Amino acid sequence: MFWLKTRIIEGKGSLEKLRKEAKEHERVLILAGNSMKRHGFLSEAEDYVKEAGAEVFSITGLPAEPSVETIEEFLPKVGEFKPDLLVALGGGSVIDTTKALKVFYDAPELNFEEIAFLDRFSKPKPVPKLKTKLIAIPSTSGAGSEVSGASVLKKGGIKYNIVTPEIAPDVAILDPRLPMTMPREVARNSGLDVLVHGIEAYTTKVANDFSDAMAIRAIKTVFNYLEKSLEGDEEAREKMHYAATMAGIAFLNARLGLCHAMSHKAAWIGPHGLLNAIFLPYVMEFNAERSDYARRRYDEIARELGLKDWRALIEAVRELNERTDVPKLSELVDEETFMARLDEMAEKAYRDGLLAFNPVEAKPEEIKELYLRAFRGE
Ligand SMILES: [Fe+2]
Repeated sequence: MFWLKTRIIEGKGSLEKLRKEAKEHERVLILAGNSMKRHGFLSEAEDYVKEAGAEVFSITGLPAEPSVETIEEFLPKVGEFKPDLLVALGGGSVIDTTKALKVFYDAPELNFEEIAFLDRFSKPKPVPKLKTKLIAIPSTSGAGSEVSGASVLKKGGIKYNIVTPEIAPDVAILDPRLPMTMPREVARNSGLDVLVHGIEAYTTKVANDFSDAMAIRAIKTVFNYLEKSLEGDEEAREKMHYAATMAGIAFLNARLGLCHAMSHKAAWIGPHGLLNAIFLPYVMEFNAERSDYARRRYDEIARELGLKDWRALIEAVRELNERTDVPKLSELVDEETFMARLDEMAEKAYRDGLLAFNPVEAKPEEIKELYLRAFRGE
């Protein structure tokens, strides 16, 4: 099956389409990242909503990581305003927060713990039909949250996932003016995450021809445009913005694998995309050495890029990391702290829902070894 709920609007200046989208609505709530306010995109969006004849209420100053506590704090204000359209204007965490807010706003009777996944052994209850329309306008190019039906949310320091088509945005507006504001490091980390999304989505057990098309185009775009995008090239940054959503569509259908399981559990060490970039070559080697299917799939990606085989692909990934100054894992965390949490990370990565889609079923001991190799930089 190939599935996409979100209508995608793209192009320079396409933020303006919010005017048309807001037309049938009376009260529009915008959740915006701080940088969107700073660069004037929030007030631009508010103007479009007003021009459409709707009332607008904006929330900014959200914490970096979405949490149930944040949602509970904002919910009374939102309930008072009674929006009939939710707009998320910002990075992945602003979009994830808006998705979770939609759940609690539309279905206040739901018990969070019952509908959320903690790991792959959880059996959450289905989420009922939710009615409020949601528009996502991403300001970074990486997370794919603008098309996915997933929201990662913390409660009491523990990360939960809500996964349901009900929270997939109805519309995504991809205006390349927004990601132009990303600092180089954010563009690098999220851009490398796009590569990992593409490569992992292409090699899961449930990949199909349709998700492959999205994954391959995203992978090629990263190799062709990421570095130019980091130099501030406008066209390259636009291409990367679209590639991020394409990779999102790929993994929304084909899911992800061991690399993401490992980076999720190591999230305390550093930025998501950066950890993925560090772990990817180790995970690829691990998969390729144990699975004919993984080798064949990496060979296919390699040929699409004009490379010889899977070994050359892994080398190309390593070289891209080097050229974009990806640090070593040991530069991000000291040995003692890392070793103290190693067993726990490996055990939790083993329990991550994504492991079921990886071409190889990794055991906790093997995951531990991969973490260690990444730390030693072998
Ligand atoms: Fe990711």
